[in-house]
Amino acid sequence: MSIRRATLRQLEIFDTLAVHMSITRTADALHLSPPAVSIQVRQLAEAAGQPLIEQVGKKLYLTDAGNAVALTCRDLFERMERLTQELAALQGLEKGSLRLAIITTAKYFVPRLLGEFSEQHPDIDVSLFVGNRKAILERLSHNQDDLYILGQPPKNLKLTATPFAPNPLVAIAYPGHPLVSQSAIPPARLGNEPFISRELGSGTRRAYEDFFRQHKTELRIRMELGSDEAIKQTVAGRLGITILAKSTVQAELLRGDLVLLDIQGLPLERQWYVVYPEQKFLAPVTKAFQAFLISQHGDSTTP
Ligand code: PGA
Repeated sequence: MSIRRATLRQLEIFDTLAVHMSITRTADALHLSPPAVSIQVRQLAEAAGQPLIEQVGKKLYLTDAGNAVALTCRDLFERMERLTQELAALQGLEKGSLRLAIITTAKYFVPRLLGEFSEQHPDIDVSLFVGNRKAILERLSHNQDDLYILGQPPKNLKLTATPFAPNPLVAIAYPGHPLVSQSAIPPARLGNEPFISRELGSGTRRAYEDFFRQHKTELRIRMELGSDEAIKQTVAGRLGITILAKSTVQAELLRGDLVLLDIQGLPLERQWYVVYPEQKFLAPVTKAFQAFLISQHGDSTTP
């Protein structure tokens, strides 16, 4: 057997396996069964003439041959992706696809914009991934999508990042909380309050942890939740206070279910960024969506 006998499908499965390093997660990502993934990987190893993975305890590792195959897979699929975009470019703006990955808090305004954009360009296939900062950065480093929307571009990757709208973080509490009637509250005062926090890996959490570190304040985290919706309900249920992106609590603030706290140094003035890897070829559809996003918020209003 020779590696030339490997099929594109086997290489695609191996490329995904090299990202997830787990047969089950690879199977989930590709909507296959775990045995189907294992068979394809075994056949690819037969074509390569040597093992590509090895299992030590419960952990999966790539062998040297596996690493070499994984690198070629990445190269190959990046080229295929570029080819897809070039072919789409030849067809112009009215055809093609747009793969967008957005950070959880952006789900409060991006889907509506995507809807408007899709109405203007009905033949474009759109896919949307929503995840926390950690998940988005992982996809970004593997170049899995066309565009990314996040609150703070990472410094360790070569990216083109354009700020397109303000994204202030605000402190909120339930109506009637003793701090609601106070003004210019020193940040250190929040160290005494039960705090409802986002999960590790959240960009929101990272931002307010930096803020409290600067103010030498340790938070009393009462509960950690992976969803802004659950956090809002918990705060409304009088279990604590929190800091969230203002765009996620607009409706509750208007209804009076939650109220803003006047903390010195807040809101944390952040921006939404639209981001892609520096060398990436942007298809007309992707460029058009990026321009649409920027034009919608060029007036610097809160999303
Ligand atoms: P998060 O990120 O949804 O992971 O908290 C939001 C942000 O960084 O603005």
